[in-house]
Order: sequence, then structure tokens, then C-alpha cells
Amino acid sequence: SRRTDTVIHRRVGTNTTAARTESARRDENVLTEETNGRKCLHTLLVERQEQAERSVLISCQSGTSEKKLFKFLSKHGDVEKYFFYESYGMNAVVEFASRDGVASLLETATIPAVNHESLVPFKSRLLSLRNLSSVDANPPSGLQFQPQSTVPTNELIQRLSQEESIDQQIISLTEQYQITDENSRLRFLVCSLLKDVAAAYFPECTIKPFGSSVNGFGKLGCDLDMFLDLDSISGWNVKMPKSGLFTEYQMKRASSERAVTQSVLSVIGECLDHFGPGCVGVQKILNARCPLLRFVHQPSGFQCDLTANNRVAMKSTELLYLYGELDPRVRRLVFTVRCWARAHGITSSIPGAWISNFSLTVMVLFFLQKRNPPIIPTLDQLRDLAGPADKSVIEGNDCTFVSDFTKIQLRRNTEALEHLLYEFFEFYATFPFSRMSVDIRKGKEQNKPEVAPLHIQNPFETALNVSKNVNATQLERFVALCQESSWLLQQNETNTPKGGGAGLGDDAAEVGPHSCFSTHFNGRSKGSDRTDF
Ligand code: CTP
Ligand code: MG
Repeated sequence: SRRTDTVIHRRVGTNTTAARTESARRDENVLTEETNGRKCLHTLLVERQEQAERSVLISCQSGTSEKKLFKFLSKHGDVEKYFFYESYGMNAVVEFASRDGVASLLETATIPAVNHESLVPFKSRLLSLRNLSSVDANPPSGLQFQPQSTVPTNELIQRLSQEESIDQQIISLTEQYQITDENSRLRFLVCSLLKDVAAAYFPECTIKPFGSSVNGFGKLGCDLDMFLDLDSISGWNVKMPKSGLFTEYQMKRASSERAVTQSVLSVIGECLDHFGPGCVGVQKILNARCPLLRFVHQPSGFQCDLTANNRVAMKSTELLYLYGELDPRVRRLVFTVRCWARAHGITSSIPGAWISNFSLTVMVLFFLQKRNPPIIPTLDQLRDLAGPADKSVIEGNDCTFVSDFTKIQLRRNTEALEHLLYEFFEFYATFPFSRMSVDIRKGKEQNKPEVAPLHIQNPFETALNVSKNVNATQLERFVALCQESSWLLQQNETNTPKGGGAGLGDDAAEVGPHSCFSTHFNGRSKGSDRTDF
């Protein structure tokens, strides 16, 4: 509540005190809810994976009503949850109370009759709903579709302009952009459907989402990063008996771990391409540092990247998730900075010399570690708090950090979001990029170990630079925009009188945040003709 005090304090005089206090109270509620409802990522993953296993994805082009569909499905088992979304027509995600419901539904599913084509007889939990009775006279009405993508920029700006302060705009932006409960379920369902394909070769495998789909920083419409986990098969973590007889599997040997990954991904890529329902445009990118398969899962609309045994990336996902859970300002600032960057064409959906969202996130985290007092701890501090069960060394990299949130003592920092956003721009507008590297492990800039315009140390694979791809031009653009944006926010701060604001009309208070935010988010240059970012 110290933080709330400051929020109130900052707001006194900028508008009616009562209204500001009310919104500060809302802030506080959000803060307590988020802090109390914390779940560790592992628990969340297990829960979601289990739900996904009991779910099916149905394309419903038949115009059948919600009621009829529900009645039909309920014959097969209790339906725990269902929702609809639009992607090439109407689709339903249906979660049964148990896997028996799925099994019963699949038992009655038929093979489609086709005239001029042939079918690859691979059965999955991706179904189409057909209707032999007369089609309903009235197509389903009043059906609620769950959004799976973000609102267009114009609409976003419109909505944000109705907020009373930049702080509220930042909160509102995060709420509208972040992955919803339904979108998260759909992501796990896609992983589970793909796992069924890979399980044809590796019955014990799992496919886990990582990156922004699960690290708390994902926005609706972001790509789906997954990794094929063969650990239970490859024997990692399996204990050897101390004495006596035992058997071991005879297995083919390969020259390296990388060669194994490449051949596994290669066959699974073939499989997805030839048999995987809904998978289109499968590309095998096997010579990358981290070999992957890239494709589109059409029924969900997700752009998918599938890697194998990518355990370090899973650790960095866990770390980002933890940072995001520690203080609500972390996610809000990251969302805002990412949105700002996209609007200005600093980031792009096309790979290239631009700064990536992951790099930007690490830059925000570093900035928050550098506040006085710091808002989040350094990775070294998190490592020192780790218990024996947290110990993790992956391919020689120390990936140990505390998993128990309650052990982390946060320092009291009560800075408001608007101020932090301004300070973020200031910080990077003047950061000595030519000499120094961003390092969230130490929480302190380090001398650059190599010549790259932008050096951001990979938190776990410390010899790697997360932003190796960024060229000097892109870095210069980023710095210039930070300068411009910090200047704009400063104008806003000066234009919005503080202290003793009695008698100030609403107009003066409105001009500040509204004009400033839309200047920030009405990207010009590359972002100007985009409707989505
Ligand atoms: N990653 C990494 N080092 C990199 C790039 C990525 O360790 N140089 C890991 C991070 O854990 C990252 C994940 O791979 O979160 C996925 O990468 P990417 O899809 O590029 O980033 P996201 O965080 O998923 O963000 P976006 O929303 O842009 O997809
Ligand atoms: Mg991603």
C-alpha cells in the first residue's frame, strides 16, 4: 500500500482527488489479487496440458445452434467448458470432464466422403461438425466468439483515449493485449494435437509451449513456440540401479545431440506435412543454431515453431514468468514498450536486423533492476535464494534460480507506471551501448565482450548475445525514438500541472495523457500502415 500512497500522491492535483483515489484503490485490488493468486509456471503447465488432453477442436460450418451442439456433445460425456472463435468460419474448443468423453465422440466420428480426392487416413481430435437434418432456418445468433487476435490499432487508440491517465492507459493496453484464458487453452490444445502426431514415433513424448505463449508477456496473435520433449525417452534424469541386473534399450547412435535433434525434427516435419490435419506450409529449418520446424496450424491460426529438447529456453521462459509475477508493473511496462516498439517499426514480424521482443523484454527487466530501489532482483540474487531442488545445470550452463516466490523479498519501490515509462526512455536514450552490455544476471552493465552494436547477454547461455542480429542502424533508430518519446512524456509531465491543482478544468488534464499516448502509438514510419502490431 506504500505504492498506492504514492499513486494517490502523484495524482493529487491532476484531476478530482476523489476519482484518482478510487482508481488508485482499483490498482491496489489488482495488486493484491495478482499477488495472492500466484501459481508457479510448472503447476500452470501441468494443469493446462491435462485440460488439453481432454479437449477437441471442432470446425462448425453447419450453422448448428449452440444448444443443439451442446446436446449432441453431452451424449458422449460431461462437457466441462466450451467456447467458440472465428478462424476460416466458426470453431469450437470443447473440453470434456474426462478423456472418455473424447474417446466416445471419436468412436462415432466418420471418415469424410470425397469424390475427386483421396484422404490420408490419420485420425485426430480435429473434427468437423456435419448436419444431415435440415439446416436451421436461422443460423446461430447471439453466439459469442472469443477473440484470438488483438484489436486494430485505431480501435485501441480510441479506447485508450478514454482513460483518464497514462497509468490507466498502460493498464488498459495490457488487459486488451494479453493472451486470454481461452487463447491459452487453444495454444495448449494445439500442442496436444501435434503431440498426437509425434507420438506415432515417440509414444511417451510431450510437446510443451514456451516463450511468450506462457511467459506472461504474450499478446493475442503471437507465435506459438513449442518444444518436443523426449526427455522421458532419452533417459535424462533416469536413475541407474546401484547393483544387480538390468536391461537397457539398444538404440541407434548418432554423431551428436544436434544430429539427433535434426533427424527427429526431420521425420516429424515430414509427418506433419503429409499427415498432420490442419498443418500447412511446413518448413524444416534444421541448420539454424536451434533447429526447428515452422508451419501454420490453420484451424487455430497460429504460426508455429517447433524445436526439440530446448530445455534452456524453457528455463528462460520460467524466469520471465517469475519476473512478471513479482510485480504487476513488470508486465505492464513490457507490454507498453513492446507495443510502442511495434508501432514505430522497431520490431517486426519478419526476422531481420531488428530488435526482437525477447531482447526488448530483457531490456525492460534490466531497467527495472536498475531502479533505486530496484523493482526486481537480479538473476544472481534469485540464484542465491535457490533451494537444493532448484538446482539445474543444462549443457554446462547454470540455470539455477529460486522457484518459491515467497522466498523473494521485494524492495519498496512505489514509482508510477507513467514515470517508469518516461525513465525507461531516458535510460536507453543515454545508455552507453558502444561500450557496455545489458546483463540481467548481474543487474549491472558490463563491458562488452564482443563487437556487436547491441549486446544483451543471454541470461543462461552467458557466452551468447541475445541481440546479435541487431545492426547499427536499428540500434540508432531505437535510441532516437527513446529520446523523442522521453521528450514527449516530459512535455506531458510539464503540461499536466502537479500540486495544488485546484481549479484546474478537465480539459487541461485531458490534453496531456491523450495527446501523448496517441503520439506514441500512432507509429509513423514503418508502422503507419499497419492495422495490427
Ligand atoms: N530465446 C532465447 N534466446 C534468443 C531468442 C529466444 O533464449 N536469442 C528463447 C526465449 O525464452 C524466448 C523464446 O526463446 O522467450 C521464444 O523466442 P521468440 O519467439 O523469439 O520470443 P518470444 O518471447 O516468444 O516473443 P514473441 O512474442 O515475439 O514471439
Ligand atoms: Mg515467440
